[in-house]
Amino acid sequence: MGNMNRHSKILIIDDNQVDRKLMRLMLENGGFQVVELSSGESCIETIEAENPNLVLLDILMPDMSGNEVLRMIRENLSESEIPVIMVTAKSDTSDVVASLKLGASDYLIKPFQFDVAIKMIRAHLGIVIPSNFGPKQTPINREYEAINLHELLTNQTLGFDVYLHLQENMKYLKYIRSDELITDAQIERLKLRNVSELFVKADDLPKFRSLFSRSLASKLTDKTLDPEQKLAVVKNAAKNLLENVTSISSEQDCAQWSNNCVHFTKVIVSDLCQMDLTTAYESMEKLLASTPTLVTHSFAVSSLSVVLGMALGIFESKSLQELSMGGLLHDLGMAKLPPELLEKHLLMQEMTADELKIFHKHPALGVENIVKVSKTPIITDNVINIILEHHECADGSGFPAGLPSLRQSYLVKIASVADQLSLELSKYNAFGGDIKSILLSILKKQETGQKKLDTKILKQLLDAL
Ligand SMILES: [Fe+2]
Ligand SMILES: [Fe+2]
Repeated sequence: MGNMNRHSKILIIDDNQVDRKLMRLMLENGGFQVVELSSGESCIETIEAENPNLVLLDILMPDMSGNEVLRMIRENLSESEIPVIMVTAKSDTSDVVASLKLGASDYLIKPFQFDVAIKMIRAHLGIVIPSNFGPKQTPINREYEAINLHELLTNQTLGFDVYLHLQENMKYLKYIRSDELITDAQIERLKLRNVSELFVKADDLPKFRSLFSRSLASKLTDKTLDPEQKLAVVKNAAKNLLENVTSISSEQDCAQWSNNCVHFTKVIVSDLCQMDLTTAYESMEKLLASTPTLVTHSFAVSSLSVVLGMALGIFESKSLQELSMGGLLHDLGMAKLPPELLEKHLLMQEMTADELKIFHKHPALGVENIVKVSKTPIITDNVINIILEHHECADGSGFPAGLPSLRQSYLVKIASVADQLSLELSKYNAFGGDIKSILLSILKKQETGQKKLDTKILKQLLDAL
């Protein structure tokens, strides 16, 4: 059964690295263990050391041909001891006939159909192919996770390594190289086969999830979806996006993730609010050109405010617009402060009393300078409040007002959480954590001293995710 694959080890002998990689992926995804050799010289030693159950042997190799290697193997081991399947790029049957005479068990012609290859290998190993190889089967469950294909069909940018796995017959359908975009024809083929689920290697799942944000544009303009369905799609996408934090393991990943959030925000705001954020983002970028870290932070808080807002169930276009603008402009006043202070703030480092005095001026400075970015009606009271009050605290320990009686609006509270989350995220280079544990650690900080944020919102977010 499928489990037997786990104990089956395949030795690949092929001089072509790309072919070896493809075969390895195919076999590993089929549940086999794999050993590779780039030439046949040391194959006997490898066979003795690794004890493989089957050999995939390339015929055309520069130093020692596949048939020579085969001869060497057969001098030591019989066909019943180890099946050897020849792999050849050309359909020249004379080589194959020679191989079969030398004791090859079978042959495959490159590029191969993975389903045929796997079937052939299993047949030679005496492995029975289960007829209902569905999601309940344990091997596939452990290695793969199912993704609803309908969520992704509008998406044309599946640009990374993946095997598409057909549920009904569990055959490998297509290997997409990382630089190859999925084509309409491929999607049509999938549709024709009525595939509803795509089995994605568990490791690739976060990457797939990030694609939800990119397929949103088409979903939101889809006339067949009613508003409620669209909102469900949006809420789900916000959730997916936030959960995707798990995939961040480098600064590059973090930038990619932030870009996804920004993209998502632009799509949402332009579709739901009929407002193009691009101009606002660009003018901020120009205005803050000397402090690129502040630009990144501003974009992050803008998009996170929207994403968090949506995860909390805010779909009202005015509010989303205000969250995106408020987040974008919240630290505008920081540009007026010494750059060292900005760095200290963004890295969450301690400031001296004198530095704090200056730092506390940034909300008011932001409001004073707001006209430089925009005089248009998008600068509403809520936007101004986000700029002015994003450092106020419920216990009166905040600034600039420092009044416990000051009641932040819901949107200000969300933007403040987004601000803190953005700082926490940029602090981690490789946290490998999930969004819930990050939010939990922020919540813990609120409960043990630093009472800056609204704990109710943090708890609501934890519930929503
Ligand atoms: Fe700030
Ligand atoms: Fe900030």
